Amino acid sequence: MNIKTKRLILRPITEADAKDFFELDSNPNVHKYLGNNPVSSIEQSKAMIKGILEQYKTNNIGRLAIILKNTNEFIGWSGLKYEQNLRKEFNYYDVGYRLKEQYWGNGYATEAALASLDYGFKDLKLKEICAAAELDHIVSNTILKKIGMLHTGTFTYNDALINWYTIKNPEL
Ligand SMILES: CC(C)(COP(=O)(O)OP(=O)(O)OC[C@H]1O[C@@H](n2cnc3c(N)ncnc32)[C@H](O)[C@@H]1OP(=O)(O)O)[C@@H](O)C(=O)NCCC(=O)NCCS
Repeated sequence: MNIKTKRLILRPITEADAKDFFELDSNPNVHKYLGNNPVSSIEQSKAMIKGILEQYKTNNIGRLAIILKNTNEFIGWSGLKYEQNLRKEFNYYDVGYRLKEQYWGNGYATEAALASLDYGFKDLKLKEICAAAELDHIVSNTILKKIGMLHTGTFTYNDALINWYTIKNPEL
């Protein structure tokens, strides 16, 4: 299953992406609003990928690698995830994104997130998609509003205050 946009291809993540995952997740700037806990070994990246491959099987969904159409480069990941850990009270479908720092500021996360919502609503017929971003993560809060999500509350996770966003399937 691939999702195509003007500039990007979103395709399933594979074990061969481990080096790219390590480059992405070992950068402390990438983890500034993700609990400040970057990875320090490629084994951790391999374990992350293993977890995603399990989600594909169990939940029929999970994050997708973002590939630049022009150059075929892996620039990060985006897509939907059946999130079972972040909110203690309930599970939900989450939209998210994480890019290598050199690709920030080109609108790629917005483009990938919009395509992910579209896929979730039109193809998977999900009723609702949600997202979470730390209060002071201006860029992510900007993106979530820009793609049409509603800021419907806040919650606390690991002592950090998090903004909560939701969007309902307009076709259901
Ligand atoms: C979050 C992240 C994916 C954004 O990727 P990106 O491709 O640079 O995002 P985009 O270019 O699509 O959109 C960024 C938007 O924020 C805006 N923005 C950037 N800096 C801003 C600032 N200081 N104040 C307000 N808006 C800002 C940009 O102008 C842009 O909006 P525009 O397209 O309307 O101009 C990237 O920074 C990242 O990977 N961060 C690390 C991982 C992470 O934090 N993930 C999200 C966890 S909730």
